[in-house]
Amino acid sequence: MTVRVGILISGAGSNMMALLDAMARPGSPSEPAVVLSNRPDAPGLAAAAMRGVPVAAIDHRAHASRESFDAAVDAALRGAGVDLVACAGFMRIMTPVLTDAWAGRMLNIHPSLLPLFRGTDTHARALAAGVAVHGCTVHEVTGELDAGRILGQAVVPVAADDTPPSLAARVLAMEHRLYPAVLEAFAADPERARRERVALFGPPLSS
Ligand code: GRF
Repeated sequence: MTVRVGILISGAGSNMMALLDAMARPGSPSEPAVVLSNRPDAPGLAAAAMRGVPVAAIDHRAHASRESFDAAVDAALRGAGVDLVACAGFMRIMTPVLTDAWAGRMLNIHPSLLPLFRGTDTHARALAAGVAVHGCTVHEVTGELDAGRILGQAVVPVAADDTPPSLAARVLAMEHRLYPAVLEAFAADPERARRERVALFGPPLSS
């Protein structure tokens, strides 16, 4: 039974595109049901629509509360027959209206090696901390920010001359490999995906 995936975005949607590519491959256990954004002008919505994927925009500014917005998102996901939610650059703090409703069925990608650097501005914080390696994490979404069960991680080296943008670009390239690998494993067999997890290692710095 193909798992129907709802993708939540707020911006460019490069992770969304990587997920759509993976789900388009023959034999994929999952298919895109809807791409939904809190920003009607998110470039990722147009990119998804170009590929024939149903899209929806729910403007968070049109809602008086976070709970009201979350209830509209929940209704849209259910209306699209979504089984599994993939947050991909969805820049909204969720309330239990969403996190409770989709517990065990909602994933997120975060641009750090959790539990290091929860929250925002992760690349600048990693550089300030002087870490030698950095990366990204796909985790299950819970009521606590960036704290759910880890399903996969990808590691990249940090260069001496890295800036937040150069480090972010190196991490983003690995996000596009990690997220599809985790999504497909989780769609195929959630318990096995939770047990085995995905570990990827990016290329060494060009010497
Ligand atoms: C990525 O860096 C992701 O880790 C973070 O937001 C960014 C999303 O980028 N959550 P995109 O919209 O997928 O291109």
